[in-house]
This record gives sequence, C-alpha cells and structure tokens, in this order.
Amino acid sequence: MDGNQREQWQSRIGFIAAAAGSAIGLGNIWRFPFITGKYGGGAFVLVYILILIFVGYPVMNSELLLGRKTQRAAVGAFKALAPGTPWILVGYMGVLAGFIILSYYSVVAGWALAYMFKSGTYMVADAVPGDIFVGLITNPGAILFYHTVFMLLCIGIVAGGIEKGIERWSLILMPALFVLLIILIIRSVTLPGAGAGLTFYLKPVLANFSGEGFLAALGQVFFSLSLGMGCMITYGSYLSKKEDIPLSARYIVVSDTSVAILAGFVIFPAVFAFGLEPGAGPGLTFITIPAVLAKMGPSGHLFGFMFFTLLMIAALTSAISLLEVATAYFIDEMKFNRKKATLIMGLLIWLLGFFPALGYSKLSHILPIRGMDLLDSFDFVANNIMLPLGGMLTAAFIGWYWGTDKAIEESSIGASAKLGSGYAFLIKYIVPIAIFLVFLNSVGILG
Ligand code: PFF
Repeated sequence: MDGNQREQWQSRIGFIAAAAGSAIGLGNIWRFPFITGKYGGGAFVLVYILILIFVGYPVMNSELLLGRKTQRAAVGAFKALAPGTPWILVGYMGVLAGFIILSYYSVVAGWALAYMFKSGTYMVADAVPGDIFVGLITNPGAILFYHTVFMLLCIGIVAGGIEKGIERWSLILMPALFVLLIILIIRSVTLPGAGAGLTFYLKPVLANFSGEGFLAALGQVFFSLSLGMGCMITYGSYLSKKEDIPLSARYIVVSDTSVAILAGFVIFPAVFAFGLEPGAGPGLTFITIPAVLAKMGPSGHLFGFMFFTLLMIAALTSAISLLEVATAYFIDEMKFNRKKATLIMGLLIWLLGFFPALGYSKLSHILPIRGMDLLDSFDFVANNIMLPLGGMLTAAFIGWYWGTDKAIEESSIGASAKLGSGYAFLIKYIVPIAIFLVFLNSVGILG
C-alpha cells in the first residue's frame, strides 16, 4: 500500500485475468471431476449448471459490487454498509473459510507440484497410477515438503502487493492450460472404450443422482467461482468505477465453467477406457491423467510436465486469492502492513495445513466427520457448509437489508447494461430460498 491510496487493478484485462485466475484452479480440474464422478455424472452436471446460472452468476455480481461500492474487503464491506450489526459475522466467516480452504488447498497443490517431476514413474511400462498416488499421499515427509514449498510461493506473491504480484501472475499461462486440456481431451476421447465415459458424463440419469448431490453441486459452484467467503468482495474492492461489473462477471463465470467442463472431457472417457472407478474420490484426476499420459508415447513426459506445471500455476493464482482475503482483512481492519499481514496469515495457514497434509499417513486414524479423513472433512465443512451459508447471507444482506435497488445502481456504474429486475428477484428470493432448501434437504428434513 502506498500511503492511504488504495491499490487498484492496473487494467480491465488485469482484473478479469486475476478474478478468472482465482476462479480457475484445483476446483475445476481436481474437484469438479471427482465430485461429478461421485454424484452420478450427467445429472450432476445438469444440476450444477442450473445452480451456476440462477445462484452463481447473481452472487458473483453481488460480491463484486459490494467490494467496489465500499472499497473494503470481506469484513470491512459489511461493516461499512451495516455498522454495528451482526452482518459483520458474514465477513468473519469468510476469513475463516479462506483459512480452512487454503490449508488443504495447498496440500492438493503440493500433489500437483510433486507430479511435475513424476513422469519417470507413471510413464514406465507396468506402472499402476493408483499405487503411485497412494505412495505419494502416505509419505508424510514428501507431502509436508510440497505443502511448504507451495505456501512459500503464495506468501511471496501476496506479500509483493496486488498489482505487482497477483495481476502479473494471472496474466501468464492460463491460455496454455486451455490448449493443453484440448490436447489431453483428444487423447482421452480416442482411447478404446471412451464412449461409455462420454455417456456417463453427458447423459443425465436421474436414478444416479441422490439428494446429497444438490448440496455437493451447490458447494462446488461456490468453490469453483470463489464465492461465499468474500474473495470476490475483496477483488471487487480494488476495482475502479470505470469497470463493467456484469460483463466481467459473465467473463469469469464462462471461463471458469469452460475449464471445468473441459476437464471432465479428459477424465471421464479415460476413467471408463481404463476400467477405473468414477467415484474414486480426491485421487481421481491424479490417477487418471497419468494413465492418459502414459498412452501418449514419449511425448507424455513433456505433456505431463506441462500439464502439472500449469495445474500448479492455476492453483497458485487461486491460492493467492484465498490468502488475500485474510491478508486484506488484517491490512484494512487491523492496520497491519502488507508484508506483516501476509507473513502471519501464511504461517498460521501453513501450520493448520499439517492436519490435512498428514491425514493419509500419521493422522489417518482421525476421521472427524462421517468417517471422512481430515482433508475431506476440511473440504466438507468449508465447501458444503460455510460457502453456501456465506452466499445465502450475502444475498439476504443485499435483498433484505441494503437493498437491491442500491446494488443495481452500483452495477450500472461503468456498465453498458446494468443488472435488472431479474437480478433483484434472484437475490431476494431464489438464492436464499434455494440454498435454504438444499440445507434442509441435506439434514434429511425434506426426506
Ligand atoms: N475457485 C478456486 C478453485 O476453483 O480452485 C478455489 C477458491 C479460491 C475458492 C478462492 C474460494 C476462494 F475464495
């Protein structure tokens, strides 16, 4: 920060790249396929897209405009618009969610980091990708090492400040990830037996879909779009009044969703071609992609290195946004300087990460929620509970406290087309009620 002048994005493309960089990450390539596989394929994808349009897009607009309006991060935004009320708790919950998510996000990003150099193992003739993956996650030393390296990268970038750090990184290499996904799709869909995977992925079979899938889809929409924890409020707070929020929101949502959908086209054909299990859980991407690479001949080494490098960078641009939420809170509200705030937050998150990091080895006996290991439990609490709750309360805040007319007015500044009555209706009624119903359903009240 230079004096009292709030930092701002340097250009429109810089902001969109940073926000899309936050959205596009492990959520798209690691989490979307394994959640889709677990909750029934095509029917899940359909529900996901409906929630994306009717909940994700309006909440994306809401967070960005709350941030720009107040020029404050998650906690400060609620404080500025509703001083002395409990609404501030929504902001605090966001900071806490960011903490929890980054602690295990860094562990999974560490897996990607490790896989950058693993082509020597999965490219050999009789390699068993599942065994290679289990070998990695059950090795506490290796996991802690990669988790540490990844957190150091995050801290270094966030400490550097908003424009020098996040924007520069976000502008680099995302298109390359897109191209590489296309190359992998071509290999995957041309494997013998790939057709069954395409059917599983694209054909909605309602019998495969359970009520629990609604909560999972809701959580995945929030996680993938970086919503429900004030991340987009924070990024919006660095926006100038010249920017077109509804248009930016559309770019972010469309680019994020495209990458997730493409990742599914790599994973599912290969899962069925190799006789793997679509519901295999968090290892799905890390088991399937190496199996596809191994079928690419010697070029698999190169493509493997490129893919996992880009995945790690995609994870990094998301992780820095997670760290930014906590850091911005301490800068805005506690008046820490950026370096100090980043270091303290980064250190605490790194320590918390020891739990999910060791959850497959030394701490594998700890199964806190419904028999899930530590990483899955952290993920469940943050994504299936905290983020949707944050989104519901943010919508309720705008719809019933601050006022959709004020939100619409803010959205018109710098925009070619402002938000309208459709937005107001979604934010006032559909978003809070839909999320509430999904919660009721998941605790079994709706049967
Ligand atoms: N959207 C990121 C992903 O899909 O990997 C994860 C994430 C980043 C979630 C930032 C929440 C957040 F605030």
